[in-house]
Amino acid sequence: MDLTPWLFFLLLAFFLNPLSTSSSLSRYIIQIEEPIELLVEASLKRWHESFLPPAVEGSSVEPRLLHSYSDVFSGFAATLTEEELQVIGKKRGFVRAFPDRVLRLMTTHTPDFLGLKVGSKGLWNDSKLGSGVIIGVLDSGVTPGHPSYDDEGVPPPPSTWKGSCELETGCNNKLIGARSMIAGSGRSPPVDEIGHGTHTSAIAAGNFVRDASYLGLAKGTAVGMAPRAHLAIYQVCDLNGNCSIADALAGLDAAVKDGVDILSLSIGDRSMPLDQDLIAIGSFAAAKKGIFVSCAGGNDGPDYFTVSNEAPWMLTVAASSVDRSFRASVKLPSGKVISGESLDQPSNFTKSSLPLYYSTESPTCDMDPPDDSHRGNVWVCEADISRVVGVAAFAKSHGARALISISPKIEGATVLITKMDFPGVMLANQEGSELISYLNSASDPSASIIFSGMVLNVSSNPTVAFFSSRGPSQAAPGILKPDISGPGLNIFAAWIPSGDTPKYNIESGTSMSAPHLSGVAALLKAAHPTWSPAAIMSAIITTADANVSDEFLEPALYFAKGAGHVNPNKAADPGLIYNITNNDYVSYICGKFGEEGARNIARGVVDCSNSMTEEELNYPSILLAPKCGTAAKVTRTVTNVGPARSSYKWSVTISKTFVSATITPKTLTFTELNEQKSFTVSAKWGIGRAPTSGNQFVEGKLTWTSNDGKHVVTSPFVVSSLEY
Ligand SMILES: *[C@@H]1O[C@H](CO)[C@@H](O)[C@H](O)[C@H]1NC(C)=O
Ligand SMILES: *[C@@H]1O[C@H](CO)[C@@H](O)[C@H](O)[C@H]1NC(C)=O
Ligand SMILES: *[C@@H]1O[C@H](CO)[C@@H](O)[C@H](O)[C@H]1NC(C)=O
Ligand SMILES: *[C@@H]1O[C@H](CO)[C@@H](O)[C@H](O)[C@H]1NC(C)=O
Ligand SMILES: *[C@@H]1O[C@H](CO)[C@@H](O)[C@H](O)[C@H]1NC(C)=O
Repeated sequence: MDLTPWLFFLLLAFFLNPLSTSSSLSRYIIQIEEPIELLVEASLKRWHESFLPPAVEGSSVEPRLLHSYSDVFSGFAATLTEEELQVIGKKRGFVRAFPDRVLRLMTTHTPDFLGLKVGSKGLWNDSKLGSGVIIGVLDSGVTPGHPSYDDEGVPPPPSTWKGSCELETGCNNKLIGARSMIAGSGRSPPVDEIGHGTHTSAIAAGNFVRDASYLGLAKGTAVGMAPRAHLAIYQVCDLNGNCSIADALAGLDAAVKDGVDILSLSIGDRSMPLDQDLIAIGSFAAAKKGIFVSCAGGNDGPDYFTVSNEAPWMLTVAASSVDRSFRASVKLPSGKVISGESLDQPSNFTKSSLPLYYSTESPTCDMDPPDDSHRGNVWVCEADISRVVGVAAFAKSHGARALISISPKIEGATVLITKMDFPGVMLANQEGSELISYLNSASDPSASIIFSGMVLNVSSNPTVAFFSSRGPSQAAPGILKPDISGPGLNIFAAWIPSGDTPKYNIESGTSMSAPHLSGVAALLKAAHPTWSPAAIMSAIITTADANVSDEFLEPALYFAKGAGHVNPNKAADPGLIYNITNNDYVSYICGKFGEEGARNIARGVVDCSNSMTEEELNYPSILLAPKCGTAAKVTRTVTNVGPARSSYKWSVTISKTFVSATITPKTLTFTELNEQKSFTVSAKWGIGRAPTSGNQFVEGKLTWTSNDGKHVVTSPFVVSSLEY
């Protein structure tokens, strides 16, 4: 059935290329019907093999079966020719086939920035730094022996742990498992060759390392979010940074089998329907077993409708700035100082003023200067992150003393710092414009460059990075995504050392923000072992700090920041939570895809007698789309996880010109822990007020505040006039 477009494609390929006779092998993920009875691993594998063409006697062809999935997916991955795929498509039990695809990598001081401190009250103390919790990281592998993986102070893994260690050097109490899931030839231990997996796992759960530094900058203690949690590494990305879906699914399968508590995914695809999205399907099986899944929301911003990894059972994380700067500034003759950042800060750089060279013919510095007269100058060039290293080399080759690069307007206040291997200052667009006005007004422009190293406390509220993917979600338009922001801009953490490159590096991306949230989830799990993944997600969302700016320093929309910036200490004590049961998820999937579609995600026989719309899922944020003239209405249920006897009153903040919103009842009164109370939210457009063009969303918030004022439970609340 789902093969039909494939057959069409094959026919098309045949007509376009009638001379090709032999057909080459490609990788496919084959979904098959659920086995009637539970099979042990060996018989499951044999059953999967029975779908494949018989092995040719004496042939040296590599095994066709790449992965045999059991826990998160019914099926297997194999290399097949197109003809063989057609044959399999006719076999009994075949459901559908997916061509394998490549996922992208969504390429420390941060605990302190997030209010986590040793020896003081708060979540680090309540969770014993994440002790006992296992974080599974699907990424490019691990750097054995890196000080961030020291197990000092980390207890042995819980007896439920079933994972294994494929490292020659073995594992320890911090790094309790490490496996390579990369199928095919040349299997080797899961050693990280590119740095990404080392960085993300250390952000989530790196141990304390004193005197960590990057080229003398960022000196201090490097530490992850959950320093006493365990790490289990599943290598699913190869040394070119390619992560195959077949391998990633195998990583999810293994992690669930091994017994991880948290899954950290800094990989992803573009948005696709949830019933086609194998990562969402695999994550659903994980969430069903009580595993919390934290995912990068993607780096396709700042356009709207770009967010990915957006299933409601996955926490979708946006990337924001931290309060640290690698400060480098340009000082004009007037004394005015224009501040930027730099990772190239030579200590012996001249403090005197140097002539500036800026070509109005070639502001991007992609043309040779007309003559040699600009040797010894400081060059000013407009360059985005992808060009800056090349531009620095170009300027250097023409005798420049230093480079001042100016980021494009679209990047706003975001400065993605990168090592240029040349003295330089990277300016955000606004600061760059100030410099250009000076250049345009001065006859002999000059400036001196001041390197100040790392400075802390530079801004009091975080800003969403320009690259961070934005909602609305295409796959789940009735769920507000992303969910939350976490630090993801210029993040300092462990790296692969080689030769004289340092053991730490500074990287940016939602790849970096997702493991921050994996670590926070581990802390919450350690502090509240009985909380479901949905409860942890609710606690994170309803306690976020909403005061976040976008890259233009305007208040950020929920579609950029999620509920706001994560506040771990507040998340530890949310008062109320919006819980979601597995049956709720099934009703949600039934409502969206019907019984057949639901079988593809939820596996096996699915009872769709209950189904709900997307808006009705008991999600901690609320997105309603009332039709003109009628009210949209949903019921939400909250569970009391605060003091047994407590009472909450609601308030709604939303533009009354556009929307009239009512909540009933007025108060929720609880007499015991874990007691549940429901309320309804209804929203209606003001007469003729539904915005039909431009921004079709009106933002507000719904807050339940306890009588003693100690618990403030805030749900982002969006009313939309989009039809979906
Ligand atoms: C840390 O938690 C323990 C209980 O685990 C408590 O006794 C202690 O007072 C807490 N420390 C601080 C500084 O709050
Ligand atoms: C600054 O120091 C570096 C290495 O320490 C050296 O290569 C360079 O020549 C020095 N530059 C100046 C202007 O002294
Ligand atoms: C950072 O600045 C705030 C005020 O904006 C101040 O309260 C705080 O003490 C400062 N922290 C550090 C580490 O300097
Ligand atoms: C948000 O943060 C900014 C910068 O710290 C501050 O000036 C502003 O007052 C804050 N706004 C609110 C509503 O708290
Ligand atoms: C949430 O629901 C799950 C069942 O799906 C239950 O195990 C859990 O106790 C509930 N409450 C919390 C706070 O997680």
